[in-house]
Amino acid sequence: MTPTTMTSPVAPVSLTPTPDASTATGTTDAILGTYKRQAPLFVRGEGVYMFDAQGTKYLDFVAGIAVTALGHGDAGVMQAMQEAMATGLLHTSNLYRTAPGEALAEWLVGHSFASKVFFCNSGAEANEGAFKFARRWARAQVDQGKHEIIAVRGSFHGRMPGTLAATDRPAYRLPFRPLMGGVTIVERDLDEMKTVLDAESTAAVIVEPIQGEGGVRIVDPEFLRGLRALTRERNVLLILDEIQCGLGRTGSFFAYEQLGIAPDMLTLAKPLAGGLPMGAILVTDDVARTIQPGDHGTTFGGGPLLAHVAHHVVQRLADPALLAHVRETGVWFGEQLQAMSERTGRIRAIRGTGLMWGVDVHEPAAAIIGRAFDRGLLMVSAGEHTLRFLPPLVISRDELAAGLAVLEAALVA
Ligand SMILES: Cc1ncc(COP(=O)(O)O)c(C=O)c1O
Repeated sequence: MTPTTMTSPVAPVSLTPTPDASTATGTTDAILGTYKRQAPLFVRGEGVYMFDAQGTKYLDFVAGIAVTALGHGDAGVMQAMQEAMATGLLHTSNLYRTAPGEALAEWLVGHSFASKVFFCNSGAEANEGAFKFARRWARAQVDQGKHEIIAVRGSFHGRMPGTLAATDRPAYRLPFRPLMGGVTIVERDLDEMKTVLDAESTAAVIVEPIQGEGGVRIVDPEFLRGLRALTRERNVLLILDEIQCGLGRTGSFFAYEQLGIAPDMLTLAKPLAGGLPMGAILVTDDVARTIQPGDHGTTFGGGPLLAHVAHHVVQRLADPALLAHVRETGVWFGEQLQAMSERTGRIRAIRGTGLMWGVDVHEPAAAIIGRAFDRGLLMVSAGEHTLRFLPPLVISRDELAAGLAVLEAALVA
């Protein structure tokens, strides 16, 4: 059969519209108001910059919330997309085998603690799936009673009913109760964990090694190592959520590598497919053995286009030179923030590592982000008084310095 060559009856949409009042100021009413969007209409990206319809250039310290780790318009990502598109096979469903999905799974297994991978479409979906796998595993161990999921203070795991139950943000949770049952949030404290974790009733504990939305809080490595030992002792799974802090952001490919421990499951998303939506759950053989066909599913997860791009992205993000750049630049960036704090007196606390930083400020973060935006710098908050920095990992020191200068101007304005 020859491919379809019919021309589309659909009116073409201009990707670079002429700015006018309705498009350039973001005044459309057609998008549901779950986000407060910034007014300009963004039409183009290049490296660490985004451009609006009027040609104004913005330095990007957000990277689509830790997604575009290789920057915008990366030649390798674009080429991988074109290679995948040239096959004409964008989607097959998980009923069929494809080479890109298998190659990506083999690569991830070969570079991690895991023996199998499940692909999905987002971070929340990865964590929801991990909860299901934990319960499946738990019930193969004991019986119906072993199902509790434990999360920790300050956590963020997603906006779906299960992940929201494990997310420590009352404002996000309260309007949507009842959430998934059998989920408890406890302090990030080993003694507390010792009283809560129970071999008969607890299936899993989920933790972000660095809490992103919770204010860029580095979870104490001693606590995490103690938790690993305790979960083993009590026959409970440890799930690490590296959706925001994984894939190079902290200067190692996985954040857990710096802890000297390995989880039973690990969830990934954000930068995995270079800006395309993709998530993954990495599991040990022990977990994998309890999962049967029909236990879980997803229509799109791990499709050939995304998997091919992701296979390119993970190899780039695992490059030792890039990881060294993240570590070295991160140390320098932290020193610059410290110096700025001393110069301006406007900063209350600085936390971070690699290219993941949080800065507590006296003023509402939104006011500073607004002033930085007016000066051409994109930033995001992590709580009412915390600025968060998640630039593309390929950003240079000069580009960071330019952003820091804007930040200082916005702080003292
Ligand atoms: C640590 C962590 N887990 C889960 C999620 C949810 O990911 P998604 O927005 O792709 O559902 C996020 C998103 O910010 C996150 O930072």
